[in-house]
Order: sequence, then structure tokens, then C-alpha cells
Amino acid sequence: MPELIRYEVRDRVAVLTVDNPPVNALGPGVPEAIEAAVARGCADAGIDAIVLIGSGSTFIAGADIRIFATIKNREQSLERSESIHARLMRIEDATKPTVAAIHGTALGGGLEVAMSFHYRVMAPDAKVGQPEVLLGIIPGAGGTQRLPRLCGAAMAIDMCTAGKPVAAQQALAAGIVDQITGPSLRDDAIAFAQSKVGAIRKTRERSERIASRDAGIAACAAARAALAKTARGVKAPFTAVDAIEGAFTLDFEGGSLRERELFADCVMSHESRALRHMFFADREAAKVPDVPKDTPVTKIERAAVIGAGTMGGGIAMAYANAGIPVLLKDVDDAAVLKGMATIRKNYESTVAKGKMTAEAMARTLSLITPTTAYDGFEHVDIVVEAAFEDMNLKKQIFADLGRITRPSSILASNTSTLDIDEFAKASGRPRQVIGHHFFSPANVMKLLEIVRGKETSKEAIATSLALAKRLGKVGVVVGNCFAFVANRMLAYYMREALLLLEEGATVPQIDNAMTEFGMPVGPFGMQDIAGIDVGWRIRQFLKSIGKTRAEGPQSAVPDRLYEMGRYGQKTGAGWYKYEAGSRNRIHDPLVDQIAAEEAATRGITRRAVKDEEIIARIMTALANEGARVLEEGYATRASDIDAVYCYGFGYPRHVGGPMFYADAIGLPTVLARVKQYREQCGDYWQPAALLEKLAAEGKSFN
Ligand code: 3HC
Repeated sequence: MPELIRYEVRDRVAVLTVDNPPVNALGPGVPEAIEAAVARGCADAGIDAIVLIGSGSTFIAGADIRIFATIKNREQSLERSESIHARLMRIEDATKPTVAAIHGTALGGGLEVAMSFHYRVMAPDAKVGQPEVLLGIIPGAGGTQRLPRLCGAAMAIDMCTAGKPVAAQQALAAGIVDQITGPSLRDDAIAFAQSKVGAIRKTRERSERIASRDAGIAACAAARAALAKTARGVKAPFTAVDAIEGAFTLDFEGGSLRERELFADCVMSHESRALRHMFFADREAAKVPDVPKDTPVTKIERAAVIGAGTMGGGIAMAYANAGIPVLLKDVDDAAVLKGMATIRKNYESTVAKGKMTAEAMARTLSLITPTTAYDGFEHVDIVVEAAFEDMNLKKQIFADLGRITRPSSILASNTSTLDIDEFAKASGRPRQVIGHHFFSPANVMKLLEIVRGKETSKEAIATSLALAKRLGKVGVVVGNCFAFVANRMLAYYMREALLLLEEGATVPQIDNAMTEFGMPVGPFGMQDIAGIDVGWRIRQFLKSIGKTRAEGPQSAVPDRLYEMGRYGQKTGAGWYKYEAGSRNRIHDPLVDQIAAEEAATRGITRRAVKDEEIIARIMTALANEGARVLEEGYATRASDIDAVYCYGFGYPRHVGGPMFYADAIGLPTVLARVKQYREQCGDYWQPAALLEKLAAEGKSFN
């Protein structure tokens, strides 16, 4: 067994090095080993002080997140928390000064361990944080009690409710750490420890930052009011505030007991299970079974984007935001200048909101070079084609790119529906051709669907995954089926929404049901943003090749809106009405009338539809189609589909993605629903074979 803690002595200081790769998480045995090593240092007459440091790239990144899944019930959670609380108190009771030396990140339980040491020093580029809330829990190893004692209510609330780590200077100014070290964290921490001999200071006994009970209570009340506006659908941030309040209203023991009880509530919640699932889903997505970790990756130094429209412009911004110079090409000056003007306007609005400085905007904009020719394309490492969805046009572009670019450069397409293998053939370099499907707005949405063609090389896939990370995106590798994974599933989401509308629900009712469920915007509001004309064009193309987006009845309501020139927000009317210059959605009874007419044409008797049915039907349609995607092998694993839906369409992470949601309901129930809808709505509802198989075997998607 490798030693979890290495014990060394230097100049009468015991240096304890945590060695639990990859991130020194507090897995089984680690807290015990830290306690034992501290006790050993205290018992050793040759030791004056103790330093705890992490090996590898980071200090302690927190509790081992996998362990939460092994907690069976509330009682077990309370027991485990009591044990870790007691252990940290024993560590804090060390009879010699203890110093935590932080590099990389001290997160969650990592910071909680550090706070049970008497002092903390930190490398200048390190960060500390309590990100538990992002996992649907609260700090559970004393963090809600020790952190306010170091930095006061406001900062502790901010850290525990937003989960964002803070940098060294901020941590020092707030009192969370005592010194920022020079180039050698280890040497400086040892020197610091020597300077503290005889000066023990226990965080739990400090009272200066929690002296005012009223101020603490007021800060918590203000935080709850602010969260009511921003933390929709989640509980953990509110629970974190409740726990922190205990630092002001109870003694340390009482506050700790309250923290344990609140933690136990959180860890057993669906919110926490879902968010933990998504934590690992994000990381699993980067693993493609036949693309080994050590596959060579091309460093992307220069890029080019073809098409300066909404998508192309957004993609160019994503590259520039990551510091990668990018050529932005369109057919003529008018098109490229229009694209640049939109990009400039987007950045200006970011600056106006205070989210970017004017200098950063100038620097980022200077990375985007507009052009109407292929000059310079011979130097780029990647081209992303974002031209109109027209097969012939795109094939021509790929043929040009195959000729003009370097043999090593990646040729990516942002197509959302067309066959990547056709472009691959046209380019003459099929190994380099891959889909990079961005989601609108491309500079904001985090999903990058990476579509592998028949001949796409492993290097192109590995490079795309690394690039996604650099662009601040989550890259998910999918297969080359029609509309790929995200839009293929979206078609089923939309189908059900449209059929529910014809059956008697209204546009605002369906949208509200879905936003109550946690979607940032309902299906109709989303179409009004994306443009009803865009969907119409895709349907026309599909008609021409004898296909439909989703199996089942095709509602004619969207076509009728298109024929009326109602394209959505941009034309002042779509599924909703809009007043000039406003994006406020106004219910339009005319749409209900059109839906009623179409229902009559199809012989549907309209009825009152309940919100629960809206959610259940839409979610069942998603899970059933997700199961087909899986059984056909177009997604590697169910959690990839969850990541696709969360990052592509803003599906609520705290629900966990459509496949995780189906697992939580239970696949036998999901299957029963499919069968019930077949009776109720028609034969277009057919259970996916994989759903039937897993339900029969008592298994789940994830
Ligand atoms: N537990 C278990 N595994 C963890 C982990 C953790 N706390 N943190 C990271 N890992 C794993 C990842 O799953 C990944 O595994 P893989 O290679 O098999 O996919 C590996 O470590 C590397 O992680 P990343 O890919 O995320 O590496 P990065 O270098 O990009 O980021 C990091 C490092 C900033 C530490 C990031 O991993 C992170 O944010 N981790 C989570 C930190 C966290 O949430 N801590 C709080 C835990 S809850 C807690 O402490 C409760 C306490 O209050 C009781």
C-alpha cells in the first residue's frame, strides 16, 4: 500500500506530504493518516512545528466525491460527519503549531482541513474555495463554522453559496490565509512554522469576525433574499446560509451539530445525486474508449472560421476569448463587415455590463481578422466551416480547404444536420475532417458536440477534446447520425410540445411548465429566439430527402406561422407577440386558434392538459430517444447524453440530464409511460429496445 502521508523532518519541523493522486482527495484513510502524522509530530521531542503540504499539482481537492454515493441514509451521514468533525477538532488541538501549505487548490474538505490547522500559507497562484454547493451539498467538515470565524459573514456566505474559489490575494485580505509565499512554498511554509513556535491559534476559538450576532443574522437574511432571485430550483445555497447563520447564533458545538444535520439533508437529496452525477459526466465525456489518453494532440495556435453569420461570428469569438488568433472569412466585404459589427456590439455590451475591460475587448477583437479570401489559410491549424446548411456549398468549401490548408490542419464543420462523411470525401483528407457542432450563442453555450466521421483520425478527436477544454467548453464525442445527438433528441422534445399544444395545452402553459421544471426557456420561447424560419428551412430540406425530424405526427402549426411571416422575436411575432424593441413574450390567442384548427384537421378532441403530463411526456420522449441513440452507438454512454442536454440546451444540472432523470424515476415507470402514451396518443410511441431490456433487467441507463 502506498503511504497516503509522507512524514519527513526538516530543521525541527515535521513536513507531512499528502500523496493521494490525482488530486489528494480525502479518500478512505487520508484524514486518519493526517491525524496520526500530526499526533506523531506532537509526540516527537525533536519537532517544534508541523507543516501539511500536498504532492503533485494540488493541495487537497476535498472529500472524495465518490464516497457520498455510499451513504445509505441520514443516520449514516450524521455518524460519518460526527466522526470527521471530531477528527478535525483533535487535529486542531495539536500541542505544536500546525501550518497548512496550499498550492493548486484547497477545495471543500481540503480547505476545511486547512482551517483546522493553526495557520495557512499559500502559493501566489493557488486558490481556496468551498464548492460543495455545486455538488448539491454544503461544507460538511466544519467549513460553515470555521470559515466565518476567519473571514466574516459576507465572504463566507459568498464562498459557500456561489462555490467559486478565491485567489490568494483575496484570501489573504479576507483573513482566510496568513501569508502568500515566494517561489518555494515548502521552504517558506517551514520558515513560517518556525516563526510560530509557541503560538498556537485555533480557528474554532476565534471570535472577532463573528462578534456581532445581529450583523450575521442580517447578512444571512440579505443572502436569502438575493438567492431567491438567482438560485432557482436549487436548495443547497439556501441550506449553506442556514448553516452559516449557526456560527452567529450558536456556539461552535451547536453550529457544528446544525451543520451535520443540514449536510445530511443535502447529501440524500436528488439535487446532490444529480449534481454529483454531472461532475463525473463532465469528466467521463472526455474519455473515448478507442482514443487512448496518450493520443498525440495538435496544438492549435491559429484558426480560421468560414461564415461570419451568427454561428461563425460566435465561434470566432470563442477562439479569440481563448487567446487564439482567428481569420473570419465570408463571401464579400458586406457580409464580413456585418459579422464584425455584430461581434463588436457583443463585446461592447459585455464591457457595458462591467464583465470585460475596454482594453481586454480591444485585445480580443484584435485577434479576429476579417477576410474575403483564403489568404493565410495555409498557416492555420484548424478551420471551422460555419456556412449555410447547403450540402453542395459545404462540399465545395471542403474541396477548397483540402487543397489550400496544410495536410495536418483539422477541417471541422459546424453543420447541425448534414453528413460529415460527405465533406470528408470532398476534402480528399477524410482523417482530418470532423464535426464541431457549437450551440447558439457559440461564445456562451458550453457544449461542443464533436462528431466523428467514418474515417476521422484518433488524433483529430483527441485534438478536438483538448481544444474544447481550451475554449472553455465541454466536448462530447458523438456519432454521425442525422442531427447528431443534441438536435436529434431536441426534435422529440419539440414533437411532444407541439402535439400537446394541438391536444389543448397553450404555448405559455407548456413553456411555463418547462421553466418550472428548470429549463432556462420553454420550447416555444426557444424557437422564437432561434427563428421559426430556421426550423422551416430544415423541414424543407428533410422533405426533399423524404425524412422527418422526429417519427410521429408532424404538426403543421409551425409551418403556418412561417407562412404568416411570424419568424419569432426578429419579426415581432412567432409563438408569442412582441412589442417593438421588447423581448417580453405576450400570449397570442391567434396561435391557440391555429392549434385548434390543426387539431380539428387531425381529428383530435381538445382537452385540458395538466402541467404534470406536459413534463412527463416531454421527458419520456427524450429518454426514449436517448435510449435509441445509445443502442445505435451514437453516444458512448448515457452520461454523455446528459452532458449534451445540460450544456447544449440548459437542461438543469440539478435534475441531472434526461437519462439520469429517467433513472431516478425508474426505467419500469418510464417504459410504462411509453406504453400508456401509445394507447393514448398513437403508435408513434414505441419503446426503445434498450429501454425495454434495461427495465426488464432492473438496470438503469447510468
Ligand atoms: N473526489 C474524487 N475525485 C476527484 C475529486 C474529488 N474531490 N476532484 C477531482 N477528482 C478526479 C476527477 O474525477 C478526475 O478523475 P479522472 O481523471 O478519472 O476523470 C481527476 O480527479 C482530475 O480531475 P479534473 O479532470 O477535474 O482535473 P483538473 O486539474 O481540471 O481540476 C480540480 C482539478 C480543480 C481539483 C477539480 O477536479 C475539482 O474542482 N474537483 C472537485 C473539487 C470539489 O468539489 N471539492 C469538494 C468536494 S465535496 C467536500 O469536500 C465535502 C466536504 O465539505 C465534506
